[in-house]
Amino acid sequence: MPEINIDRSLSFIEGTQRVLDENNTLERTKDKLKSIGVTRIASITDLDRLGIPVFSTIRPSAAEGAISVYSGKGSTETQARISAMMEGFERCLAERQGLNENVKENISSIHTIDSYDNLSGNGNAINPPSLLIAENYDPQALIEWIHAWDLLKNEETFVPANSVYHPYDEPGRTLKLFRSNTNGLAAGNTIEEAIFHGLLEVIERDALSTAEFGRNPGKEIILTEEDGENYEILRKFTDNEVAVKLWALNHDTEITTVVAVTDDVRLKDAALLVMGAGAHLKPEIAVRRALTEAAQSRVVQIHGAREDTEREKFVREIGYDRIKRMNKYWYEDGEQISMKDLKDLSKTTPAESIDVIAGQLKKVTDSAVVVDLSRENVAVPVVRVIIPGFEMYTLDRERVGKRAKSGPRKKMTPQERPWRKGRRR
Ligand SMILES: Nc1ncnc2c1ncn2[C@@H]1O[C@H](COP(=O)(O)OP(=O)(O)O)[C@@H](O)[C@H]1O
Ligand SMILES: [Mg+2]
Repeated sequence: MPEINIDRSLSFIEGTQRVLDENNTLERTKDKLKSIGVTRIASITDLDRLGIPVFSTIRPSAAEGAISVYSGKGSTETQARISAMMEGFERCLAERQGLNENVKENISSIHTIDSYDNLSGNGNAINPPSLLIAENYDPQALIEWIHAWDLLKNEETFVPANSVYHPYDEPGRTLKLFRSNTNGLAAGNTIEEAIFHGLLEVIERDALSTAEFGRNPGKEIILTEEDGENYEILRKFTDNEVAVKLWALNHDTEITTVVAVTDDVRLKDAALLVMGAGAHLKPEIAVRRALTEAAQSRVVQIHGAREDTEREKFVREIGYDRIKRMNKYWYEDGEQISMKDLKDLSKTTPAESIDVIAGQLKKVTDSAVVVDLSRENVAVPVVRVIIPGFEMYTLDRERVGKRAKSGPRKKMTPQERPWRKGRRR
């Protein structure tokens, strides 16, 4: 059944944005890891000198085309462990029936193969070009579709399976639209939590993509001691000679997305010029997520357990100084703001949080689609959220839409370019 009924009786635990406390989440899920093929979960915090908790999850049975090592972060050990575990559930349930080695059950939504022209003549379907695909797409081409629920329109619709499953191989005779990714894939203690998190992730990627495309970092957040826990996390970086710039990205939904850009001024290692991002209705949580994700990015680089080492090869070849020059806009000073300048839109229930996001999204777009990937025999609910038109340039350089292109774009100065035209004498 594609209609998703939001349980309006659930509330967040006081002082959190989760319906269960961390220990409860851990108790309910840790025994289930085996059933999704997770063989190991371990702290990798100590690989770095910062001491911000980072965990990794190993799932050797991951389908071909997807990574088998996941990581998670948090301001506490338990939170980092949950974050890494939940990623295991997300990735496992994003694999389709047949391909999935661990879970044999199918999702509840129906699948169909049809052309957009034909399918949209009989009902609702997301038009593939709105998912930012190559321009030569033929609306009569056969595509695989999944029945989904549109949160903004409150109606059923079909969405290309290519944007739901990861990895994705198209069934015979059908068209592959793009390389699949994990944007908007989210787990939670309940499906409401998963939807909330999935929406935030898609918004975060849209904000970050637009910022990177336009080379516009937004406003610089300055934390002070009054910011409590976030300031303490920041100090773990700066006390260890890792410089951090915190940016509040511009976004037309007014939902806060924060980027933490880090520079290891002690090691001056190009691979450690990493960042973290986080969006949330509560600005403090957006900052915390950005900072802890930046710490995670460092550990993942140091760990070297990434299966995609392309970035590493690329940055090492280019070198520390040039990478910094290329991305100069993240390292320069910006217009300064403090936490109180960021709008807190948070609520005390997941249902109201989803309503707030839907309300903000309606100002800029007309569709936000959810597919329930949960399986009855797997304890953790997982969804995929897709917002047509929203950018993911930061994940896939081939997919750029109108939202990124219509914004102001700062040109690269010759110094910022990684390459040099001609030779200097
Ligand atoms: N305390 C928690 N309880 C339940 N699910 C959680 C909790 N913390 C994180 N998750 C889930 O874990 C996954 C990873 O979340 P997070 O650590 O925020 O990383 P990311 O921003 O990369 O998605 C998400 O699906 C998220 O909803
Ligand atoms: Mg995620």
